[in-house]
Amino acid sequence: MSKGLLISIEGPDGAGKTTVLEALLPRLREVYPDQVVTTREPGGVAIAEQIREVILDVDNTAMDAKTELLLYIAARRQHLVEKVLPELEKGNMVIMDRFIDSSVAYQGTGRGLNQDEIAWLNAYATDGYKPDVTLLFDVDSETGLARIAASGEREVNRLDLEKLDLHQRVRQGYLDLAQAEPERIKLIDASQAFEDVVEDAWKVIKGYL
Ligand code: TYD
Repeated sequence: MSKGLLISIEGPDGAGKTTVLEALLPRLREVYPDQVVTTREPGGVAIAEQIREVILDVDNTAMDAKTELLLYIAARRQHLVEKVLPELEKGNMVIMDRFIDSSVAYQGTGRGLNQDEIAWLNAYATDGYKPDVTLLFDVDSETGLARIAASGEREVNRLDLEKLDLHQRVRQGYLDLAQAEPERIKLIDASQAFEDVVEDAWKVIKGYL
């Protein structure tokens, strides 16, 4: 078992989780100088970043849903063993931008793949490892998609182009997860003003420091 703390942040697209994390980092680094590692899925290490390019390539419109799931799972495995677990072994705090719950919400509830099979694949990829705590940034799909469109901060990826109802199912998938695992998954209302979202997230994280 590892000595560090694993925090994952999750939410539908446009929930603002990555920006909130950036705002929290200085506070975290005050408590744990040099011990806070942030990383993301899919990606985080070279092999997983290469898989990410295949998954998110806007030209890959022929990608089958199970292929998509397996690629996320493969990227997850490599990232976990190559980066996350070694950092936890050192006693560091690792904050992951997306992890196991994204597969459940996006490929499960979103794409309609079998939830038991996804749970099995997640457990296979992680050897059953789960985050100590997960912050779920919840926002309704219209607001989330409008934020992405307005920000223009990053390139539009293949998944951004999916229809509104996929995003709505993803959100519902997350809410179901939060209900099923209330001890691990902490729900944060990401439709609030940015400063309030940051404060709510900080309150949750503080409880684990
Ligand atoms: P990214 O640009 O990192 O988006 P975000 O900033 O919202 O995290 O793209 C990652 C996309 O991949 C995002 O739309 C969610 C999706 N995704 C899945 O569908 N399944 C997964 O298991 C993971 C990790 C991500």
